[in-house]
Amino acid sequence: MIPTIQDNSNPQASAGATALSENKPVIAFIGAGNMAEAVIGGLYASGHPSTHLRFSEPFDARREYMESKFPQCMSTTDNNKVIDGADVVILAVKPQVLRQVVSDLKFTDTNVLIISIAAGIKTEHILRWLETPQPVVRCMPNTPALIGEGAVGLYATESVNDAQRDTTVGIMSAVAKRVMWVDKEAAIDTITAMSGSGPAYYFLFMEAMTNAGVAAGLTPEEANDLTVQTCLGAAKMAQQSEDDLATLRKKVTSPNGTTEAALKTMEAANIRQIIHDGVFSAERRSREIADEMGRDQ
Ligand SMILES: NC(=O)c1ccc[n+]([C@@H]2O[C@H](COP(=O)([O-])OP(=O)(O)OC[C@H]3O[C@@H](n4cnc5c(N)ncnc54)[C@H](OP(=O)(O)O)[C@@H]3O)[C@@H](O)[C@H]2O)c1
Repeated sequence: MIPTIQDNSNPQASAGATALSENKPVIAFIGAGNMAEAVIGGLYASGHPSTHLRFSEPFDARREYMESKFPQCMSTTDNNKVIDGADVVILAVKPQVLRQVVSDLKFTDTNVLIISIAAGIKTEHILRWLETPQPVVRCMPNTPALIGEGAVGLYATESVNDAQRDTTVGIMSAVAKRVMWVDKEAAIDTITAMSGSGPAYYFLFMEAMTNAGVAAGLTPEEANDLTVQTCLGAAKMAQQSEDDLATLRKKVTSPNGTTEAALKTMEAANIRQIIHDGVFSAERRSREIADEMGRDQ
């Protein structure tokens, strides 16, 4: 059984911290790109010992950058070297190269947990490409994970045990504020359409609102600042208030006031249906991509 990541919010005395670090899983990243950098950085900041973090990366400039940022982590260009002795292997390469990467891996311990963050690749495909029956977690992060504000969806294959689930949550919590398990892998397509693609929906809304502010006479900077802070403030209210979203909306909408005028115009243009259709288009496309990626040529 692999060790579980502990909550590190209370600083430990150094002797205790050393004992704790010995229980931390050894985590190997295959692919040291943006996502791996964010997760390693988050784990590092949460007190995970750097000696228990490693990465493999073929691109010299990228590997050297990561080596300078995380000097105590083991680094290599050899994917089979990085997984040797690891408790957890995180597949953090682009989906297009995942099949080749996974097919070349040689595991000697079938308890080693694999966490794949490659978008659109199903666990059945990873298991088919592996030579050994590893426990596999499929993870759908989003770009706010790059600044520690992610929302992450997780699906586990049957052989993933409770300790490995806890370990997965511990790792992803280093970059995400919300970590959610789903029972059916198909739900990962829904998560992709919500939190995965979701940041772009909000960027589009903010872009349009900023443009409207500029058209009404604000400078681009003023319009941008007001838009972003308003979005952030509304999100924090939604998170902290006991009211649901509809109640919060009604509370800022006085009869015959300015907000009501805006919302009436947006509702008349069918904004709810547009958003509904957009989310369903993303979900459908997520399924299509997963099928294309897993197809044997
Ligand atoms: N970034 C996000 O916000 C985000 C959000 C959701 C999901 N994801 C998923 O997370 C995964 C990683 O994304 P990312 O943004 O971190 O990508 P990335 O920055 O491109 O990182 C992937 C890294 O893997 C390296 N690599 C390529 N082939 C390799 C091999 N054979 N062995 C080992 N490493 C190899 C790449 O090196 P080269 O540069 O030499 O190719 C690159 O440094 C993707 O599947 C993506 O869909 C990312």
